[in-house]
Amino acid sequence: MKIAPSVLAADLSRLADEVASVERSADLLHLDIMDGHFVPNLTFGVPVITALRSCTELPFDCHLMVTNPVEYLPSLAEAGADVVTLHLEAVPDPTEAAVLARRLGLRFGVVISPPTPWEAVAPWVETCDTVLVMSVHPGFGGQEFMPEVLAKVEALRKLVDSNGLSTDIQIDGGITTATARAARDAGANVFVSGTGIFGRPDRSQAIEELRAVIGEQP
Ligand code: DX5
Ligand code: ZN
Repeated sequence: MKIAPSVLAADLSRLADEVASVERSADLLHLDIMDGHFVPNLTFGVPVITALRSCTELPFDCHLMVTNPVEYLPSLAEAGADVVTLHLEAVPDPTEAAVLARRLGLRFGVVISPPTPWEAVAPWVETCDTVLVMSVHPGFGGQEFMPEVLAKVEALRKLVDSNGLSTDIQIDGGITTATARAARDAGANVFVSGTGIFGRPDRSQAIEELRAVIGEQP
């Protein structure tokens, strides 16, 4: 079980301090890269990630919501990314992207937006270190969790386990103490949370509460 705070919900004018506030309690730092084309929002890119690299030892989990994600893999690797996830809606055949990512020393994964069925991931699951199931429409933090995506998490968990794979299953969007348990029960093991962590005054406590919710047996 891993917790990945999404800095999109942090106070971006104080990014280094915000990252420091989750340094001890988080497992990964989730970085939402948006291009204003694949999604209707712009966030930050490689220069910000390069700057953040010197502020933290947390692994960087880069979620690419861009039309041409493969082009950015070399510069993201150079910037110190650890994991990159690409939307299947942007790259329907991620074979080459996975090869390139591995050559660059990156862990690789694919993402599916809410309308995309879990079956779209099935051909690629063995080439992925992680599969991210979006539980909101990508583009903005602070949206409401969509419980209807849990069936996809369940199906992917079955697929991963029945093939003896160790692929992580990430859930991203609207994850709070109110929704994380359902995602855990469906089979997610990496929990991205923006507002649920950075929207709280005490980030360690927020993460601890999330861990308590997902750590208990159903
Ligand atoms: C949405 C992003 C999410 C977002 C999650 O497109 O991929 O990572 O930051 O934010 P919350 O947890 O606030 O829904
Ligand atoms: Zn994200």
